[in-house]
Amino acid sequence: MSAGYPGNEELVEDSGPVPAAQRDHRSQEEPGRRPVPAPAAVAAVERPIGPTGRPMIDIPEPEPVAHHGPARVVSMCNQKGGVGKTTTTINLGAALAEYGRKVLLVDFDPQGSLSVGLGMNPHTMDLSVYNLLMERDVTLDDVVVPSGIGNMDLLPSNIDLSAAEVQLVHEVAREQTLQRVLRPALAKYDVILIDCQPSLGLLTVNALTASDGVIVPLECEYFALRGVALLKTTIDKVCERLNPDLEIDGVLGTMYDGRTLHGREVMARLVEAWGDTVFHTVIRRTVKFSDSTVAGEPITSYASSSAGAVAYRELAKEVLARWRDE
Ligand SMILES: Nc1ncnc2c1ncn2[C@@H]1O[C@H](COP(=O)(O)OP(=O)(O)OP(=O)(O)O)[C@@H](O)[C@H]1O
Ligand SMILES: [Mg+2]
Repeated sequence: MSAGYPGNEELVEDSGPVPAAQRDHRSQEEPGRRPVPAPAAVAAVERPIGPTGRPMIDIPEPEPVAHHGPARVVSMCNQKGGVGKTTTTINLGAALAEYGRKVLLVDFDPQGSLSVGLGMNPHTMDLSVYNLLMERDVTLDDVVVPSGIGNMDLLPSNIDLSAAEVQLVHEVAREQTLQRVLRPALAKYDVILIDCQPSLGLLTVNALTASDGVIVPLECEYFALRGVALLKTTIDKVCERLNPDLEIDGVLGTMYDGRTLHGREVMARLVEAWGDTVFHTVIRRTVKFSDSTVAGEPITSYASSSAGAVAYRELAKEVLARWRDE
């Protein structure tokens, strides 16, 4: 993976003197000659500035897929709670499924919010990801259920999973347990999204070890960047010791409110710290997400033409373009 994603400590770094080529080009004008527009000005005319403060990019429509697999496994990870991990897992998954990708969602949080958000009752679940991890005779096919959305399945979870965190400590290759049980799914799906719990414990390390990529949802509010350095350290350690191929696929600004100066400032700091790792797509704050959770379905089907649904479809396109270019 690319080295040196900055953490909080680099946020106040001085960007240094402006190179001559980027200084005000009007000073180079000569009388009688047509002024040459500065390169940045040309870019600004051609491409509108997006909510991240950078010129928007053209994101191509995803190509249809002729056959499925091998899957890219991606963890939705941030140890801070309530930043939009589960919302992003459900809705990015549903948007990718709309684009014809076969998607498996893995609820890897004992809170079971992903399963509840797809209409499952945590108390009436026969088998969950816990059984798959801890019982050798339980297979993936025994536990996977349809999500209610075409092309998208779910590995559900409930509070039982909290016991796995303790029990796995005594297992051989404890960090690779999820990777082992997901192996049979790789050929069947195009994308496997793992919804992590808000912690950097053994379950999250399992998720990162099983993954090709990580998406970090960050709520666009003042404290969002606190703790990101620690998350980066954990990702680096997993990379060094367990999974050298792990990449950060992107940082996603969630619950963005561009009408407030505060929202725009936090977004600017996010881009300053993480550069082009930050997705151009941002997810704005809207109550429609809570409504769709209550309804037990993704926003892409609950309110198909809402701004939230459109944003997650844009994210799906951007994510597919990044994966294609990797
Ligand atoms: N863009 C948004 N605008 C408004 N509300 C949102 C948005 N995204 C998520 N929410 C709401 O914020 C709450 C937290 O979101 P979510 O459960 O996705 O976060 P999380 O990171 O998975 O939380 P946890 O760390 O507890 O697992 C939910 O009630 C959800 O409906
Ligand atoms: Mg969650």
